[in-house]
Amino acid sequence: MQSWNEKSWRNFPIKQHPIYKDQEALLQVEKTLKNYPPLIFAGEARKLKQAFGAASRGEAFLLQGGDCAESFSQFSAVNIRDLFKIMMQMSAILTFAGSCPVIKVGRLAGQFAKPRSSDFEKINNQELPSYRGDIINGIAFDKDVREPDSSRMLEAYHQSAATLNLLRAFAQGGLADLKEVHQWNLDFVKNNSFGKQYEALANRITETLGFMEACGINPQNTPALKETEFYTSHEALLLHYEEQLVRQDSLSGDFYDCSAHMLWIGERTRDCNGAHLEFLRGVKNPVGVKIGPNITKDEILKICDILNPQNESGRLNLIVRMGANIIEERFPKILEEILKEGRAILWSCDPMHGNTIKTSNGYKTRDFQSILSEIKSFFAIHQELKSYAGGIHLEMTGANVTECIGGSQAITETTLACSYDTQCDPRLNAIQSIELAFLIADLLKKSKKVKQEG
Ligand code: PEP
Ligand code: CO
Repeated sequence: MQSWNEKSWRNFPIKQHPIYKDQEALLQVEKTLKNYPPLIFAGEARKLKQAFGAASRGEAFLLQGGDCAESFSQFSAVNIRDLFKIMMQMSAILTFAGSCPVIKVGRLAGQFAKPRSSDFEKINNQELPSYRGDIINGIAFDKDVREPDSSRMLEAYHQSAATLNLLRAFAQGGLADLKEVHQWNLDFVKNNSFGKQYEALANRITETLGFMEACGINPQNTPALKETEFYTSHEALLLHYEEQLVRQDSLSGDFYDCSAHMLWIGERTRDCNGAHLEFLRGVKNPVGVKIGPNITKDEILKICDILNPQNESGRLNLIVRMGANIIEERFPKILEEILKEGRAILWSCDPMHGNTIKTSNGYKTRDFQSILSEIKSFFAIHQELKSYAGGIHLEMTGANVTECIGGSQAITETTLACSYDTQCDPRLNAIQSIELAFLIADLLKKSKKVKQEG
């Protein structure tokens, strides 16, 4: 293999990448970004890699979630806080009811670039370049707005920095305190049956904390009771941006992509001979690769060889997104073949991207039942083959949106219109997310039981 540097991706074929008309402006932006401070530290990425290793062995569970695409227009403290709260809440459910430590990784503070199935969008006979995420162009159907604009990378960087600043304050400064466990239940969730089920669980946690405090275990001597680790992630799609955030760690001499703790490559750009794998192979962050229904055993092995040649624990997360109708047919054979190869892989399930449908009234949506069905299959297949379902990757929000149908609120094709706000794909709302967390906690509990009995 050729030697790597942060620019070597430029010698490889690349998909889903914008072409900037103003190359001089692009160079200036790249120069500016290169001088900006890193958004994360190498030590944090190493810690996350260790945690991924634990999840790959069934000793922890990865909860990764957030918007399909962040946007400049919906950037607000309330949105960040509510996603943080809902992930804390889901994590409390999974830890308490599923007895499993949870690794929290947000799809935010950098999740701005989107791969698209078509390069162009046509409305009323006018054809314009597709929207590719706020870091590249604007969503408005206007010729100038759809032109890739490199200065958007600077805005994305600043928004990511401000988002991370708030997340760090929440994680270390009180909002993650287990004493706040009732506070995480958002107002509009409280009267829902799953909101109530959560209140009951929160009461038990509070009671347990009281017992522990009486035994001498308190937030002063046990900081884990009052703070948490909250990591960030996004798809490493726009390599002009990622390249500029690469920094060499002074301790190890290794290179890290300091735009986020974890980066992943999407289903459409995971070409083994392509630029995206070339870029990620050289940075030491934990990395993910989405795998869809057409993946082959040989491709997975090649991905492992390229991204994890030393077969290190926690380095590589394969995110399975086959679809509820296909996973049972394709995944067992692939998993069985890969398990025989002894590769260190954290397997997680993205039950969103293989289950997107279009309603008759024109909405892109996902059915809660299909999402759940893919997750159940994912757990069952791992259990059957004595492997670990190590995590879940969701598009979700703490807001009260109506984007996915089904769930306890019984959102229908007709009620989707009430609050359909997503910038790209449909997200689970807070109530659907909690419902899912309870269901996953059951699956985790069952797989723990099988492990103990086995
Ligand atoms: C995504 O995660 O937003 C995405 C585009 O996923 P995939 O690459 O699996 O289609
Ligand atoms: Co998406």
